[in-house]
Amino acid sequence: MCRRYTRSKRDSASRSNCVDATLARPVTLGERINGCRARRQKAEAWRPESAELLALEAYVALQSRGLPIAPPDDPRLAPFRARGEARYRQRIGQLDLACAQCHDDHAGKRLGGSPIPQGHPTGYPVYRLEWQALGSLQRRLRGCYGGVRAEPPPYGAIDLVELELYLATRAAGMKVESPAVRP
Ligand code: HEC
Repeated sequence: MCRRYTRSKRDSASRSNCVDATLARPVTLGERINGCRARRQKAEAWRPESAELLALEAYVALQSRGLPIAPPDDPRLAPFRARGEARYRQRIGQLDLACAQCHDDHAGKRLGGSPIPQGHPTGYPVYRLEWQALGSLQRRLRGCYGGVRAEPPPYGAIDLVELELYLATRAAGMKVESPAVRP
């Protein structure tokens, strides 16, 4: 259960991507919120990227602002994390580029005018000026898939959840700054 790893509401963003016992796979903060809505409140789940879900995610994440990202040290997460890392290093799309090539090898350089960040997931959900809206980490990742002309996995796909899990591990110790603002 996620609850075992989430000591308080304040911890929930820094420790998101924990294993959900019913689904037997890691879940994102948004999926956790929706799971509680459906299972505990018997309410309808919000659709991905809906204003309602993003607003609640932003509120919960704000409680963790300033805490270090601390992905749960749960052995059940290991295979998911390993697949996320493999995906991070795999070349994809018509441009045949891996996430690592931009975010590890070329971070700090510029790509068509925009600086390439290190690709840390510390600010999500973010308000992005380009979107003129709040958006999730999955929306951001799908944008990077599009950037290399690869077919983005649909919202909620395990591929994206595994990538999120690996990104959280890669960013362990960095401070949560959600909800952040990005260009
Ligand atoms: C061709 C280079 C390139 C590749 C490949 C790429 N990205 Fe990005 N990524 C960017 C750029 C540039 C940005 C900054 C936003 C923008 O201007 O689009 C970004 C933004 C991000 C961010 C947001 C960081 C922040 O500070 O909010 C994350 C996370 C991220 N990328 C993860 C990934 C992952 C995971 C992959 C692989 C599926 C990937 N990226 C592939 C160029 C790339």
